[in-house]
Amino acid sequence: MDQIRTLTPRTAVIWSVVRAELDRRAGERLSVLDVGGGTGGFAVPLAEAGHRVTVVDASPDALAALTRRAAEAGVADRVRATQGDADALTGLVEPATVDLVLCHSVLEVVDDPEPVMSALVTALRPGGAASVLVAGRAAAVFGRAMNGQLDAAAALAADPRGTTGGRDTLRRRYDTTDASALLTAAGLVVEEIHGVRVLADLLPAAVADGQQAALVELERALAARSPYRDLAAQLHLFARRPA
Ligand SMILES: C[S@@+](CC[C@H](N)C(=O)[O-])C[C@H]1O[C@@H](n2cnc3c(N)ncnc32)[C@H](O)[C@@H]1O
Repeated sequence: MDQIRTLTPRTAVIWSVVRAELDRRAGERLSVLDVGGGTGGFAVPLAEAGHRVTVVDASPDALAALTRRAAEAGVADRVRATQGDADALTGLVEPATVDLVLCHSVLEVVDDPEPVMSALVTALRPGGAASVLVAGRAAAVFGRAMNGQLDAAAALAADPRGTTGGRDTLRRRYDTTDASALLTAAGLVVEEIHGVRVLADLLPAAVADGQQAALVELERALAARSPYRDLAAQLHLFARRPA
């Protein structure tokens, strides 16, 4: 896992949390499951760090890109690409075989997040950990309003699922309370919650691109602190299946 790839405002906070878990289990070759892992932005660096990663994704194109990326990085033997639906995960992964599950930017688009979470927990070994990233509701309200879409902002704020309705690209968005409740109901213990992209999406591109290192540091400084965390574009929850 080289520093360049991990030092972006989009991923730095998540990598800090995931790295702490890898450090906690230093010397072990972990079994990682990346649900909706796409083209391998997390899977390939984890394989490069020596872990075995299974990516389950619905998109054959994403999996083809993942396979190419893994081959280019020289870790094809440690990355397994499986086409499948997160909604039907139980049939794809052996129960209690996984040390670390990633589920990033997926719960917003699946048919029903509860059975997906439940299947993730079933896949985890007791003591295993889950890294879950979901879209934040408050940031979406602010974003619409700042773009002048006040009706959409009002609809999103009023909708129990945090969407603007039929044309929304996402089926739901979360705040820290309902995201935590989802994981807890599935049997996980939530250990940490961070905001991801507290500021990154609000800044002019010239500032975000021109001062990336400073932005990463600021994102890190704000990520765990309310109210900044609660206004982030995404919420990252790190949770564990009790041993
Ligand atoms: C927004 S991308 C996120 C990719 C990656 N997790 C990341 O954070 O960069 C969502 C991914 O989930 C996959 N996906 C969407 N619905 C899915 C489903 N029901 N089952 C499995 N994968 C799904 C998409 O193909 C896509 O690769």
